[in-house]
Amino acid sequence: MIAYEWRGEFANDAVNVLHAEGFGHPYLDIDWHTQVHRHSLGWVCARDGEELVGFVNVAWDGDAHAFVLDTLVASHARRRGIGTGLIATAVEHAKAAGCEWLHVDFEDHLAGYYFDACGFVPTRAGLIALR
Ligand SMILES: CC(C)(COP(=O)(O)OP(=O)(O)OC[C@H]1O[C@@H](n2cnc3c(N)ncnc32)[C@H](O)[C@@H]1OP(=O)(O)O)[C@@H](O)C(=O)NCCC(=O)NCCS
Repeated sequence: MIAYEWRGEFANDAVNVLHAEGFGHPYLDIDWHTQVHRHSLGWVCARDGEELVGFVNVAWDGDAHAFVLDTLVASHARRRGIGTGLIATAVEHAKAAGCEWLHVDFEDHLAGYYFDACGFVPTRAGLIALR
């Protein structure tokens, strides 16, 4: 049974482990706790018992637009619907906060996940690499 918690408590270490594994980079000591408390509308923690098995950050513009960033599920827990559950929880709470739009961008191979499983619709988007 997976529990999804909006703005739930988490340890930086647990998110840093998910991030390094999910994006295939070395472990980085990032202070997610301060970052999301200062800048995000919210975030969703997915827990299997005590273990943090999923996390997504929901950034926003302070008004109508919220942005899904860094959706992550532990590799051993994937393809069990946890990623879909993270986004469903983000949608519910972004709506409740009065947002009108939830945005995401992603690589082509995740189209099935974001479009078919999570319910996003395609739109044009743009990106500039700043460094
Ligand atoms: C993307 C991610 C969050 C999906 O989490 P998940 O818990 O496995 O997703 P779900 O179980 O809810 O998947 C639902 C459906 O989405 C699709 N899907 C999920 N992961 C997929 C993948 N890696 N490639 C293609 N389709 C995928 C499948 O259709 C899946 O249904 P199925 O298992 O019945 O085939 C997870 O693979 C992950 O953490 N990846 C590494 C980090 C990453 O790339 N995050 C996205 C940043 S934009």
